[in-house]
Amino acid sequence: MGMNTAMRTNTAQVIGVVGGSGGVGASVLAAAIAVRAAQAGLRPVCLDGDRLGGGLDVTLGIEQERGVRWPDLAGARGCIDGPELLRRLPSVDGVHVLSFDRARDVALAAEVVQEVLRALSEVADVVVVDLPRPDHEFFAALAPSVDAMALLAGSGIRDLAGASAIAGHLIEACPAVWLCLRTSGKGTHFADTVAAALDLPLLTVVREEPSLAADVLHGIPPGSSPRSALATAAETVLSRCVVGERRDAS
Ligand SMILES: Nc1ncnc2c1ncn2[C@@H]1O[C@H](COP(=O)(O)OP(=O)(O)OP(=O)(O)O)[C@@H](O)[C@H]1O
Ligand SMILES: [Mg+2]
Repeated sequence: MGMNTAMRTNTAQVIGVVGGSGGVGASVLAAAIAVRAAQAGLRPVCLDGDRLGGGLDVTLGIEQERGVRWPDLAGARGCIDGPELLRRLPSVDGVHVLSFDRARDVALAAEVVQEVLRALSEVADVVVVDLPRPDHEFFAALAPSVDAMALLAGSGIRDLAGASAIAGHLIEACPAVWLCLRTSGKGTHFADTVAAALDLPLLTVVREEPSLAADVLHGIPPGSSPRSALATAAETVLSRCVVGERRDAS
């Protein structure tokens, strides 16, 4: 870690998304953040951190696309060529994704995961990591390189209990942790109350996205429709976590 910093020409902003409980929509939010980044003219990469989660390529609707996935990199040694890796990743609408593969489970050494992030950070503006919970190895390997984390909490009692169990670990691991709350409520009073209880700053609420199920079936990446609930939430995350990162040239 920290090697070659003097030689770096570009370093992406790294955003981690963590679900406060299972199935709350963290992978979808991570994908939507990358989709909105691409729409804004940034170069995003999505990193799948959920080894047995089925694959972030599925969330983006490009599981049939050929290209490199984590198992292809498990044996990597030494320096990884960022531009070459980026070229070989499957992509949709300007979003590249490094996904796990449901057909090929693989354990990844922390050094490989860290080197992949370093290499991709040189060729991307934003790397969005779909992080597992803090008790997983992948979290430990990447957390020190994450600039900002979004904890997506659900609104039910068990969701909130789960989020509170995780929040402290995130704060320990990362200097900038934000709360995103999945809620159908119209106002923000509830969200403010949850943020105060978890002692996290509220970044955005994530409302129900009615078209999501149909979009997934049609291979439309989450967050593609401007002004949709997901696009709005994802843009809020982006604007807070990637301040001033928009690139004018090169
Ligand atoms: N904002 C949303 N509105 C409506 N449905 C959503 C929303 N976000 C996610 N979903 C749906 O909820 C389900 C779970 O989403 P997702 O896989 O993103 O959750 P997760 O938190 O990553 O789950 P896991 O704990 O398995 O990693 C999916 O069917 C997805 O389509
Ligand atoms: Mg997930």
